[in-house]
Amino acid sequence: MRALTWHGKHDVRVESVDDPEILNPRDTIIRVTSTAICGSDLHLYDGFIPTMMKGDVLGHEFMGEVVETGPRSTLKKGERVVVPFTIACGACYHCGKHQYSACDNGLPADNQDIAQELYGQPMSGLFGYSHMTGGYSGGQAEYVRVPFSDVGPIVIPEGVEDDKVLFLSDILPTGWMAAENAAIEKGDTVAVWGCGPVGLFAVQSAFLMGAERVIAIDHFPHRLALAKKFGAETINFEESKTYEALMEMTGGIGPDACIDAVGLEAHGFFVDNVIDQIKGSTFLGTDRAHSIRQAIIACRKGGRVSMPAVYGGFIDKFPLGAFMEKGLTLRTGQTHVQHYMPALLNAILEDKIDTTFLISHRLPLEQAAEGYRMFHDDQNEVTKVVLKPGLELAAE
Ligand SMILES: NC(=O)c1ccc[n+]([C@@H]2O[C@H](COP(=O)([O-])OP(=O)(O)OC[C@H]3O[C@@H](n4cnc5c(N)ncnc54)[C@H](O)[C@@H]3O)[C@@H](O)[C@H]2O)c1
Ligand SMILES: [Zn+2]
Ligand SMILES: [Zn+2]
Repeated sequence: MRALTWHGKHDVRVESVDDPEILNPRDTIIRVTSTAICGSDLHLYDGFIPTMMKGDVLGHEFMGEVVETGPRSTLKKGERVVVPFTIACGACYHCGKHQYSACDNGLPADNQDIAQELYGQPMSGLFGYSHMTGGYSGGQAEYVRVPFSDVGPIVIPEGVEDDKVLFLSDILPTGWMAAENAAIEKGDTVAVWGCGPVGLFAVQSAFLMGAERVIAIDHFPHRLALAKKFGAETINFEESKTYEALMEMTGGIGPDACIDAVGLEAHGFFVDNVIDQIKGSTFLGTDRAHSIRQAIIACRKGGRVSMPAVYGGFIDKFPLGAFMEKGLTLRTGQTHVQHYMPALLNAILEDKIDTTFLISHRLPLEQAAEGYRMFHDDQNEVTKVVLKPGLELAAE
C-alpha cells in the first residue's frame, strides 16, 4: 500500500510499504478515506520528538471503512468509523476512570521503558507518533491496523460526510477538553493562546460552556479572523504586547481562565523564547515554552490554566512562584478522546458545532509531503490539510 513515511527533519515521503495485518483478536483493518495533518505532526516534521525511526508511517487523525476484523472486534465490515488517536484497552484502572490517554496497556511491552524512564509511568499508545508512544503505524496511509477496535472507533451514521466528523479523531475533543479543563463558569473571560485547529475549537467550546468573552491570541491574521467569526476578541502578539493587552481588556484583573493551545514551538521574539531557542539549537533543551509561562503570568489570581498544548521534555524559567502565590490550577493531558466522541458526534449531527470551516486544503495522499510543507510554511492561510487516499492527483 501507499503511505506517508518519516525520514528525518523536513523529510517525509509517500512510499510503498507493507500492508497492515491483523495481529491481535481485537484488531481491525481500516481502509482510510480521510486523514488530516495535525499541529502535533509538525513537531515530528521539525524533528522535536525523540524515538522516531526512518520509514515510520505518520498520521493520527483518520477515518475510513472497516475491511477486516479480528475475532474479538465488535465492528462489522463496511462500517464507517472515526478512530481516536489514543490507543487504549478500555479495561485497565485508568480506562475505568475514562482517562484513556493514561491507559496502562496501550503500549507494547517492549516500548514501555522509555516513557517509564522519562515520565514515571508508561502512557497510552498513539498512532504514528514515535516509538516512545508504541511505534504504531499511523493513518496517513491507504490502510491502517487499529488495535482495541472494540473500544476506540466510533461508527458514523450513513450519509454524514467525512469532513464533518473527521476531527472527532483528535482536535475537536482536544479543544473541548481544553475548555472543560479550564472549568469555565458562566460569565467568564477566557484567553486562548494559539488560533490553530486546537485553539479554534477551544474558542467554540468555551462559548458553548458559558464564557461571556473569549480573547484569542496569535499572529496570523487569517487564523485570528476565524476566531473572530466565532465571536472572539483578538490580540495579534506582533502588534500589541499580550500581557498588557489582556490586563487592559479585563480591567487589570486578568482572564478567569487561560488556555495554552500553542505548545513547544512557540513563535515570537521574547527573551525566554530566544533562550529556549538557543538551548534547543545546542541540544540543551527541546521545548519553547513561552505561551504557558505567559498564560500563568497573565491569569487572574485564583484562576485556572488549561494546557492542551504538547510539551515533551523539561523546561526551565517556569513561573512556579506566580503559580503558587496566585493560587492557580493547571490541568492538561493528551486528550481522553474515547470519552468525548459520542457526545461530540451528537453535537455535530445537531449542528451545534461547526467543523468544516477549518479545512483549507484537500489533497490526494500522494501529495502528502507537499501538504506538510504547506502547513508548515504558510500557517496563515493553511489552517488544516485533509488527505484523501482515493482523490485524483491535482493537475500540474
Ligand atoms: N493534548 C492533546 O491531546 C493534543 C491534541 C492535538 C494537538 N495538541 C497540541 O496542541 C497544540 C496546537 O495544535 P494545533 O494543531 O492547533 O497547532 P498549530 O501549529 O496549527 O497552531 C499553533 C498556533 O499557535 C500560534 N502561536 C505560536 N506562538 C504563539 C505565541 N507566542 N502566542 C500566541 N500564539 C502563538 C501559531 O501562530 C499557530 O497558529 C500543539 O502543541 C499540538 O501538539 C495536543
Ligand atoms: Zn492531532
Ligand atoms: Zn486501559
